[in-house]
Amino acid sequence: MKDKAVVFFSRNGSTRIAAGIIAEKIDAELIQLKARKARHGFVVSGFRAVTKKHLPPEGDPWGQIQECSTVVLGAPIWGGNANPVMNGFLARADLTGKKVYLFTVQADPEKAKSDEVLAHYSQRVEDAGGTVAGIFALTGASPGKTADEGVLREALAGWEQLK
Ligand SMILES: Cc1cc2nc3c(=O)[nH]c(=O)nc-3n(C[C@H](O)[C@H](O)[C@H](O)COP(=O)(O)O)c2cc1C
Repeated sequence: MKDKAVVFFSRNGSTRIAAGIIAEKIDAELIQLKARKARHGFVVSGFRAVTKKHLPPEGDPWGQIQECSTVVLGAPIWGGNANPVMNGFLARADLTGKKVYLFTVQADPEKAKSDEVLAHYSQRVEDAGGTVAGIFALTGASPGKTADEGVLREALAGWEQLK
């Protein structure tokens, strides 16, 4: 097990590609969050995000990061809000003593609401005992589409804080 992990949720692959690029860059383990419940369609998923629902992830991603000193968390923005599965992960996470980086992925090139969503995650991370070392907002693709790896790689090269 590596000392670093990139924990992510992705429905259409853009966040997965971004997480993979980051994992390669910092030599981290890749941990994909999967919702325990059946997956919902666009409208229900958006509604659950807007109503700040938590969807607990499958398995034991918490155990997988126990020994890590650095954790990167990434998830798509849904309905202008944080992702319910990432919320479910953070609700039970113990991040005491861990350095945490956060990133969002969304369709909007203007990255509307990313500041709010990253602030929301930052608060959850601090509540869980972690220290936020860096945040980054990425543009992915429109719902149902997957962003181009080269474009994500180029954007991520601008994330100065990530080490
Ligand atoms: C239910 C749902 C709601 C979404 N809401 C937003 C939104 O409010 N703002 C935005 O910019 N993109 C929104 N998107 C687009 C996704 O954030 C975008 O497609 C992202 O690249 C998906 O990442 P993924 O491929 O890792 O799942 C939404 C997508 C879904 C499925």
